[in-house]
Amino acid sequence: MDEVVDDTVEVNFKFRFSVKSGRDVLEMEHVSKSYGDHIHILKNSSGRIERGDKIALIGANGKGKSTLLRIIDSSEPIQTGTRRSGHNVIKSFFAQHQLEALNVENEILQELAQAGSDKTEMELRNVLGCFLFRDEDVFKKIKVLSGGEKSRVALAKTLISEANFLLLDEPTNHLDMQSVNILIQALQQYEGTFVTVSHDRQFIRGVANKIWYIEDLELKEYPGTYAEFEAFQAKVQAEKAAEEAGKNQEAAKQKAETSAPKKPRSEKQSPEQAAAKKALKQKQRQLEEIEKALMLAEKRCQEQEALLADPALYADAARMQQEQALYAQYQEDLNVKTTQWEQLVEEVDQLTAETEG
Ligand SMILES: Nc1ncnc2c1ncn2[C@@H]1O[C@H](COP(=O)(O)OP(=O)(O)OP(=O)(O)O)[C@@H](O)[C@H]1O
Ligand SMILES: [Mg+2]
Repeated sequence: MDEVVDDTVEVNFKFRFSVKSGRDVLEMEHVSKSYGDHIHILKNSSGRIERGDKIALIGANGKGKSTLLRIIDSSEPIQTGTRRSGHNVIKSFFAQHQLEALNVENEILQELAQAGSDKTEMELRNVLGCFLFRDEDVFKKIKVLSGGEKSRVALAKTLISEANFLLLDEPTNHLDMQSVNILIQALQQYEGTFVTVSHDRQFIRGVANKIWYIEDLELKEYPGTYAEFEAFQAKVQAEKAAEEAGKNQEAAKQKAETSAPKKPRSEKQSPEQAAAKKALKQKQRQLEEIEKALMLAEKRCQEQEALLADPALYADAARMQQEQALYAQYQEDLNVKTTQWEQLVEEVDQLTAETEG
């Protein structure tokens, strides 16, 4: 395979458009969306997009991300609510089915030239170069292209259009890492507005300044980058865990207090109870240790995430790979420690019950 591998590719083309949109790009109010009687996506949900917003729409499979993107695009009917597009908003939509919309008989350059923009051949070749089509490559017919190559052509088409508002549904599917980095650079330079659905954490980290997700049939917004969002989530989780732990302790204390009077202090504890008590003490100490280690592991992951979010890193592919490998290692360590912690919590609970037995 003659795959192009060039780590030095830099996007030196400005993806410009001639018409700037108004400040308000889209306003959705009280939107409800269901498919039939059983599949509910949104209920009375509102959202607002302003010029310059670079939104990553994230969430598990089937949550309704693609549906929401089509709602934003106005191509998906809704049951209730309104959506209002702002002044001078020019949209361009990218989804996997766009690959099938490419004219298979066209050559790549021709396909771009027909995209309705008034760019010169030089400019188009420049854009195609950014997407790794060089020299004679631009005369390849669409029908011979691989899935990844077709994706790159369709993305180039989306980006050269005069659109000032891009809607991208999983644009990094089929792309290798180099192309993902190129797309990240292109979107960082893009001066318009976009919403992109993605599961690709590296991509989301690289491009988004806001995070959207659907929770309890409602559209939620986190007004920050993905790294900040993840740190925020980790904090919420930690607080929840701490609250749980506090509750457990409190419950155990109360249980001990209320059950104590029933058993006179002088009553001798059974050897089993004494052993359980000793084991409990030991486990509690272990739990304290692992909690400390867990906090450190979390912190290390967050710091590495922040490091990976630095666009400067993309210029150095070798180092980025190293840092990503390190991140994977830290995450694995965090997972192992979390599992250990969960096990210990369970054991402590059980021993607590036995000592009170
Ligand atoms: N036209 C349709 N008719 C009926 N159900 C649909 C239709 N389109 C989507 N759905 C259902 O709505 C839910 C949300 O689908 P959607 O494609 O929006 O999810 P998604 O978040 O994009 O998922 P993924 O991450 O897998 O792409 C799914 O349960 C899906 O099966
Ligand atoms: Mg989808």
